[in-house]
Amino acid sequence: MKTLYFTGTGNSLYLAKQIGGELFSIPQLIKDKTYNIEDDVVGFVVPCYYYTLPRLVEKYIRQANIKADYVFLILNNGGGGIVAAMTIIENLFKEKGFTHYYLNKIVMVDNFLPCYDMIYEKKVKNNQLLEPEITKIKEDIHNKLEFNIDEPIKDYHNLPEYNLNELHMDQIDEDYTIDLDSCNGCGICVKVCPVGNIKLENTIPNFFHYCEWCMSCIHNCPKRAIHIKNEINDERFINSDISLNEIIRSNEQ
Ligand SMILES: Cc1cc2nc3c(=O)[nH]c(=O)nc-3n(C[C@H](O)[C@H](O)[C@H](O)COP(=O)(O)O)c2cc1C
Ligand code: SF4
Ligand code: SF4
Repeated sequence: MKTLYFTGTGNSLYLAKQIGGELFSIPQLIKDKTYNIEDDVVGFVVPCYYYTLPRLVEKYIRQANIKADYVFLILNNGGGGIVAAMTIIENLFKEKGFTHYYLNKIVMVDNFLPCYDMIYEKKVKNNQLLEPEITKIKEDIHNKLEFNIDEPIKDYHNLPEYNLNELHMDQIDEDYTIDLDSCNGCGICVKVCPVGNIKLENTIPNFFHYCEWCMSCIHNCPKRAIHIKNEINDERFINSDISLNEIIRSNEQ
């Protein structure tokens, strides 16, 4: 079994490790130009962004040549609602010609700083509480259960917030600011970025407008020096069972 994951703050990596299989980070597969994936079972463990798949994940699934008898995708999300995400994924799976597949979702800490308070999120959610749900997902996959969504949403393209288009994403990092009094020029933000969107210029991080919106740089900055417009406070989050080095190994370009 091959399990492909994408993570900004460690939730998807934690989940992928629990589910098992041979783990591959999608940003590393893209970096290595690896688009042929073959096994009896191939799975994806990825976060939900703005009611859909992260743009980079959707692109990778579209482009990859995936050969498997059974495919699964677990969409981890913050509980803020996923609207038509499962319909979008199921349609994509059908386009790919997958016939034997399993889709499921699980709620973890919501790392979207403009809407959620990390102090509260960390207080009410943790990995231990998820054990029963993760065990069930593992069993389902082990038993090669099929789960298709019950009621596909037909006109999901017309939903108002389905908005990961190029224009929007080209502007998203304009909402980030660096507190130069706090930044020590350590370059961790550069290393955790899955698309190489940050470069240090004279020890000051610069963003280059191809952000994937994963918020990895913001959450992983040891000085909390990166801020996003309208953030609730400067509390940050990394999954408690995942190390910074694991996120760097997953994302560094
Ligand atoms: C840009 C962005 C958009 C998000 N959109 C949603 C969403 O539409 N619905 C939801 O429930 N959670 C949403 N989330 C929360 C993440 O899906 C959730 O925190 C996930 O566990 C993060 O996974 P990771 O730690 O592997 O990066 C969003 C997070 C980000 C950064
Ligand atoms: S991780 Fe934070 S402290 Fe380090 S260079 Fe980036 S912004 Fe500065
Ligand atoms: S710039 Fe920050 S938020 Fe954007 S893709 Fe890179 S790490 Fe993620």
